[in-house]
This record gives sequence, C-alpha cells and structure tokens, in this order.
Amino acid sequence: MKRIYNNINLANRNSFGVVECAKTLVEFDSAEDLKEYFVEQKPAKWYVLGAGNNTLFTRSYDGVLLTPVSGRLEVLKDDGVNVDIRVEAAHDWDELVAWSVEQGLWGIENLSAIPSSVGAAPVQNIGAYGAEAKDAITVVEYFDTRTMEVVRLSNEECHFAYRESIFKQELKGCAIILAVEFRLSREAKPNLGYGDVIKEVEARGGATLANIREAICAIRGSKLPDPKVLGNAGSFFKNPIVERAMAEALLENYPEMPYYPIAGDEARVKLAAGWLIDKSGLKGYRDGSVGVHDRQALVLVNHGGATGGDVMRLAGYVCQRVKECFGVEISPEVNIL
Ligand code: EPU
Repeated sequence: MKRIYNNINLANRNSFGVVECAKTLVEFDSAEDLKEYFVEQKPAKWYVLGAGNNTLFTRSYDGVLLTPVSGRLEVLKDDGVNVDIRVEAAHDWDELVAWSVEQGLWGIENLSAIPSSVGAAPVQNIGAYGAEAKDAITVVEYFDTRTMEVVRLSNEECHFAYRESIFKQELKGCAIILAVEFRLSREAKPNLGYGDVIKEVEARGGATLANIREAICAIRGSKLPDPKVLGNAGSFFKNPIVERAMAEALLENYPEMPYYPIAGDEARVKLAAGWLIDKSGLKGYRDGSVGVHDRQALVLVNHGGATGGDVMRLAGYVCQRVKECFGVEISPEVNIL
C-alpha cells in the first residue's frame, strides 16, 4: 500500500504545529513500496517524517516526505524470562511502552510518555530518566536507498550514544527505518536513580512497572507541555558536552550547577542546557508567537501561529544568551528542515 499526496499542508503532521507545505508526501507500508517508489521516481531529495515530533519545518519542503504507516507488533521469542519483539516503524512509542507495562515486561518503562514513533526512537536514541532506547534495542531494520535492500543492524552496529546513532551520521540520507526489535524482560529491573523518580515511585507504593510508568508520566506532565495544547518538539536543545576543566571553572562560580558524568569519557561531562537557559534569565521568555517554556527552559513553544522562522530566531537568541552568560555553545536536538 502506498498513498501519495501533493502540496500537502503539514500543520497536523508536526508537533510544533507550524504551517508549512510539502511538495509530495508518500505514506508507505513496506520495503516493496519504497523500492517501487525509488526505482520509478528516483527522488533527489527526501526525508522521513514519522509522527513529526522532532522536526521543525522552516520553509515549505520541496522534496518528498516519506511516512511509514505500518505499525504491527509481533512477539518473536519468549523464553519465560526474556521476550523478543519486533515492532514496525509507525507504531506509537508510548502505546508500546503501555503494552510492555501491561504485559509485565521491563526495559522501556522509564521512557513513558515520550512523543515519538517507534521508527524515530533509534535515530536519536530517545532517552529520559536514566534510560535510553538503546538499552532495549537489539536490531534495527532499514531500507537502504543506495542498494534498495533491507538491512538489519545489531545494537552495536547502530553506534548509539547520547541522542546519537549511525542514522544521524553515516547513514543519514540513505536509511529508512522499517522496524525495530527489542529485548524486554520479566525480571524486575527498576531504574530509579534519576531526579525525583524514586520519591514519586515510593509515593505510589513501590517499584512496580505500573507505578514507575505512572510516576514518570506525572513528572513529565508537570514539566513538559502537551504538544496537542502547546506546539513544541520536547527538548529543543541537546545537553552540551564540555571539557571537564570548563565545567570545573563554571562550578567555582555556580556550585549548584547540575552536571553528569559520561560513561567511558573521563575528560568530558554533560551540562544541563535547561539549567543554563534558565540561569540566563530566559525561562518563560516570550517573543511574539514563540517562547521558552515556563516550566522547562529546554523546550521552545509555539504560542499559536508561529512559523519555523520565528522558532529559529528565538533559538538563535537563546544560544547567543547562553554563550554570553556561560561561554557554552548549545545546539539543537530537533531536526531542522
Ligand atoms: N533545570 C533547570 N531549569 C530548567 C530545566 C532544567 O534548572 O528550566 C535543571 C533541573 O533542575 C535539573 C537539570 O536542569 O537539575 C536537568 O533537568 P531535567 O531533569 O528536567 O532534564 P533535562 O536535562 O532538562 C533531559 C532530556 C529530556 C528528558 C529529561 C529527563 C535532553 C536534551 N533532554 O532533560 O528529554 O525527559 O532529561 O530524563 O537530554 C526530550 O529529549 O525531548 C526530552 C524531554
């Protein structure tokens, strides 16, 4: 199945809610659909638009947007402890998390309520509350537009890192993710070390899957705007990774500054961009139809009627202020088209 739309309005296909158009949008079901389309049309410019939760359109898109529509979930293997599943790209991420919690399967519960599709999850290795998608992913299956073949990559071959993967690097512009495989577990493995998670879980009676999911949803709900109410793409910026010496110099002036070690990298640390933006005095800052969210400074919001250009202007201002105040460069996490 393949559906082709021309001159399509993208307002309902991006969580920022900016009004832009695409010349062509193709909804596809399978690798066969993609092969047929690429052989026949040879598109020179294309981009995969999943649920549109991490993309900012700054102008009308003059290429082809490719949107997966198939989202089947299949249990591949169940040995009584570990359960291997295969989920196609269009499956809603949070529905997958809800399903895993209902089934009593551990592994992705800390990633509750992240607005994403399953196919987008490995691209930027979505992460929250001390967990990342990479911790549960075993295989990513994609269509390679150079060879027109379906390729399966193991977890290691995906080169996952903080908000990074091979799909943002070497395979950028040649891979269309079809399905992701995960290994979940019936063995309880609560991961409660991040921020308020333990407190919120204990307030709900202890570390069950359902309580963890509920706690994470509550924490997220209290800080992050619902894109259905206020257009946004979650964290607009990545948390910057800086030399340890730079962090130490900043800590002399700001001993309360949050920072995080990076596994396997002693020389550098990760800072909290939200804290830097907040301390630069920009939390709740508003410039016409766009603004910095008033409960989480890492999130830029569309107060209504914003264009992608408006968001970019604000993003530039935020980067400039953080650089002036702290000498730290922050960069977008969102894909900008
Ligand atoms: N902070 C402030 N002011 C703010 C925001 C944050 O002072 O306005 C401080 C917090 O008090 C805390 C630190 O900065 O000490 C970190 O804040 P938080 O725990 O809220 O997490 P984050 O680093 O701002 C990251 C992810 C989020 C994820 C949370 C929880 C990135 C870019 N963002 O945010 O992911 O939900 O951790 O794990 O890594 C997303 O990617 O869209 C996203 C929402």
